[in-house]
Amino acid sequence: MRRREFLVGVAGFAGVAGAAGVAATARQSGETRVLPSAARALAARLARDPLRPQYHLLPVANWMNDPNGPIWWRGEYHMFYQYNPDGAYWGDMHWGHAVSADMVRWRQLPVALAPTPGAADSAGVFSGTAAVVDERVGGRVWMMYTGVRAVPEAEATIKNGARSLLETQCLAKSEDDSLRRWRKLGEPVIAAPPDGMRVNGFRDPSPWRVGEEWYLALGSGTRDRGGAVLLYRSRDLRRWEFLHVLAERAESIAVPLAKPDVNEVWECPDFFALGEGAARRHVLIYSTNGRSYWMSGRLDEATMRFAPEQAGVLDYGAYYASKTQRDATGRRILWGWIPETRPLAEYKAAGWAGVMALPRVLTLDGQGWLQMQMADAVETLRGAEKRLQPTADRNHLARQMAGMEIEGYSGELRCAASTAKDWELTLGQDGREPWLRVGSSSEKPDEILVNGQGIPASAATGGNRDVSVWVDGSVMEVLVDGKAACTVRFYPDRETAERLVPRWTGEAAALQGLSVSAMESISPDRLTR
Ligand code: FRU
Repeated sequence: MRRREFLVGVAGFAGVAGAAGVAATARQSGETRVLPSAARALAARLARDPLRPQYHLLPVANWMNDPNGPIWWRGEYHMFYQYNPDGAYWGDMHWGHAVSADMVRWRQLPVALAPTPGAADSAGVFSGTAAVVDERVGGRVWMMYTGVRAVPEAEATIKNGARSLLETQCLAKSEDDSLRRWRKLGEPVIAAPPDGMRVNGFRDPSPWRVGEEWYLALGSGTRDRGGAVLLYRSRDLRRWEFLHVLAERAESIAVPLAKPDVNEVWECPDFFALGEGAARRHVLIYSTNGRSYWMSGRLDEATMRFAPEQAGVLDYGAYYASKTQRDATGRRILWGWIPETRPLAEYKAAGWAGVMALPRVLTLDGQGWLQMQMADAVETLRGAEKRLQPTADRNHLARQMAGMEIEGYSGELRCAASTAKDWELTLGQDGREPWLRVGSSSEKPDEILVNGQGIPASAATGGNRDVSVWVDGSVMEVLVDGKAACTVRFYPDRETAERLVPRWTGEAAALQGLSVSAMESISPDRLTR
């Protein structure tokens, strides 16, 4: 979803409740045990929808966007997310909630946060972050999030033709260790942008602690300079002092695909240290205009000034509003929202929209380039595996490939191939244009092509590329060498057999290995309960 649609969504959809949507809300919020028949019918339809993923997290029905406040807490992973209980379109933002022992197998819980009539979040509970306080006395989780309410245009931080909205930063405290019950503070803790700053947006707080102090990165953009992340400081999470702009668009650092745009807002910032000793850097991630980016560099911890040295794109495909957390062992986990790429009318009719990407572990290489690998918990879903025998014989290879199909749109494909040769790996259905094309050219050894998009990926040592594809419903998450990521959506029609077949073009000998594994579903009914 593009930002423009999001603003249209604010104006057009909030408060519109479809019958199926309302019924499904009752179910998700746990208010009713006996489901209205419309909700039962919707759940049954969604459980049979072959395009609905089986091992990715998504709500029981309706719309999902950003991951919010992911946290490992009292032995469980909690994921909250932007959720519209009214239907499969953006609007009326609540926080959905799910829990997992391993970041992969999820159980749905009731909605965690809803807008409060008359309050700062009456028009929506927007994105935010978990913070742990009172650690000396056992700890409590607080959520810092953006509340949105309708105001006169002069006070607004989001303006569009139909409505003007004020974004303020709010706090909610957990009242139980299962993070199901929340109490909101009566008033916002950051009620307005810094004096004199004319912002395009002011949202998605991301606090972190350094000793006795809290810092906060906040997504924004100024009317004359474009996207920016604002830095604040506090001692108690309640009284915040604006320090300076932590990062903004700069000529000095080249960011692939980013175009100057003074109207942009850098949404969902997240700022953290990665690496040890001399290799330690700070990393900023943010999302704008449909893409998630990263920067790595040095933070001067005395002045809190950040000097970026490297920058890149987190994922070149359908992937947005990324957010991180630490896992149980301290690794930095990246989450992201996989939006729909089909038209609004289609996903609205489907009754569900939006998927949470699988957890990826972030690290930095020696040059400060961001690397990512699927978390090992994803491997525990692997089922029966088919493995191809590498061969220089083209016909033998083609015969083996035909047996490497992925059934029911669910599986994992792994492939190793030489960067010294030209080749293309495709995944598709018989007689149709493939849904996925991954290609490598010996003339451009530092680039990989995914569905026509060139992605920088410096040639691996040993001259091999490792390509992994996680196929699930209508999602393909593609990772190459742990450097280049591209999430692809595909929407086959119901007439086509639910089977994808890989094909290889190029010298047979360039293919060093290929395997396809079945993936276990995380629920018997595509997470519809
Ligand atoms: C990103 C975003 C955030 C905002 C939320 C609203 O997708 O626009 O900036 O908090 O979604 O749903």
